[in-house]
Amino acid sequence: MSASTFPPGPRGFPILGVLPRLRRDALQTFVDAAHQYGDLVHLKVGPYHGFLALDPADVRHVLQDNARNYHKSPVYERLRDGVGNGLLTSEDAFWLRQRRLAQPAFHRQRVMAMADAMVACTEQMLERWDGVASRGETIDLVEEMMAVTQAIIVRTMFSTDLGEAAEVVNRTWPIINRRIGETFWATKIETALPLPANRRFWRALRELETVVYRIIADRRRSGRDEADLLSMLLSARDEDTGAGMDDRQLRDEVMTMLLAGHETTSLALSWTYFLLSRHPDVERGIADEVDRVIGGGRPSFAHVDRLVSTRRAIEESLRLYPPAWGFSRQAVGDDEIGGYRVPKGSLVFLIPFVIHRRPALWPDPERFDPGRFTPEQDAARPKFAYMPFGGGPRGCIGNQFAMVEAQLIVASVAQRYRVELAPGQNITPEPLITLRPAPGIRATLAKR
Ligand code: HEM
Repeated sequence: MSASTFPPGPRGFPILGVLPRLRRDALQTFVDAAHQYGDLVHLKVGPYHGFLALDPADVRHVLQDNARNYHKSPVYERLRDGVGNGLLTSEDAFWLRQRRLAQPAFHRQRVMAMADAMVACTEQMLERWDGVASRGETIDLVEEMMAVTQAIIVRTMFSTDLGEAAEVVNRTWPIINRRIGETFWATKIETALPLPANRRFWRALRELETVVYRIIADRRRSGRDEADLLSMLLSARDEDTGAGMDDRQLRDEVMTMLLAGHETTSLALSWTYFLLSRHPDVERGIADEVDRVIGGGRPSFAHVDRLVSTRRAIEESLRLYPPAWGFSRQAVGDDEIGGYRVPKGSLVFLIPFVIHRRPALWPDPERFDPGRFTPEQDAARPKFAYMPFGGGPRGCIGNQFAMVEAQLIVASVAQRYRVELAPGQNITPEPLITLRPAPGIRATLAKR
């Protein structure tokens, strides 16, 4: 190994490197690079040196051990166009302050208190499903999961429900998500020109913002302390100046939580049902477990630890189809990864979708096998071999929340229905910001 050359990688085009390929199909570019080269791949991305880090030790170095030397990459600029400078996109001291403010809302005790709302929102969905099932209709599974996780995030973090505004979120978020996903590799000019696609994006953003500002204004007016995330953000005061957060910053944090807090979990659930439909034995195991642990009673936080098969199936689904399929960083100063020089300004790509399929870490990687997640196997795997929630200081703040939520939803559904995929669908992963099942999932509901 030499610190003066770069690791092997595709040559790409002159000047642009692999940028045109990333723009066309980022996920496939990373899959191919991982297949052809070693554990650390050099990719020239326009003016940047890029490194695809596949060895868990290297990932750990970037996300944890030397995390201070890495900021979110310029790709997150596009995310900033949507959610502004909130917890997901901010940096350094400002980020740390916001993270500390938000953290108490995610403590285990708080998540425990939120479990009831998670189940209540799922019950509302199931009541609606009763009508759908009796009429023998099909559901759009992704849409259903989006709706329930959205209701949950709004109820738990902002102690409200969106009412009619839910329609606005459902309509605008796919437009925003698609545009951000499509423009990750675009130039600033392309995203600033008044093209029809950009105008649609701006219009959707403004509409969504109106909903968010209303949530903030309603709470300011009522002055209620709900002990939720919104109250924590509203009551925060700057240690030096005593000033509270302005509406713009609150907008960014609420927007971030609204979007980061429901989209990913809904996709995790959608992929889980996709996989369960192909593995009826695992599906039956979950139904039996729910019967044994909860019976006909109401699911609660107290059951979660005993829903072991349910949890493992979700974990395995997060391995094969990680909703946050890939993310990236930029080196603030010079560094060294795996013995190679990483010049300041370099991009580092961290791609759970690819790492979760490395045969050296995951034998027979394409096989759906929840049995991989026994405590013994978990302990034997290197940290960062499994990273659906990222890791290190910038790891997902909602990790526990999401796992409890997903387990309670799967368990509540399993008590009443088996979700069956409608025949004849060709469903493939579409890598936007998140990994979506395209073109969607149609399903029917079989009563238990
Ligand atoms: C299965 C569901 C989820 C997945 C797969 C997921 C995944 C991730 C990943 C990979 C990151 C790190 C991104 C990076 O390093 O650039 C992240 C960060 C984040 N997630 Fe999640 N997430 C999920 C659920 C949630 C939920 C339920 C919430 C909120 C209630 C949430 C809020 C956030 C926030 C605010 C951050 C930024 C944290 C920071 O930088 O301090 N996520 N998530």
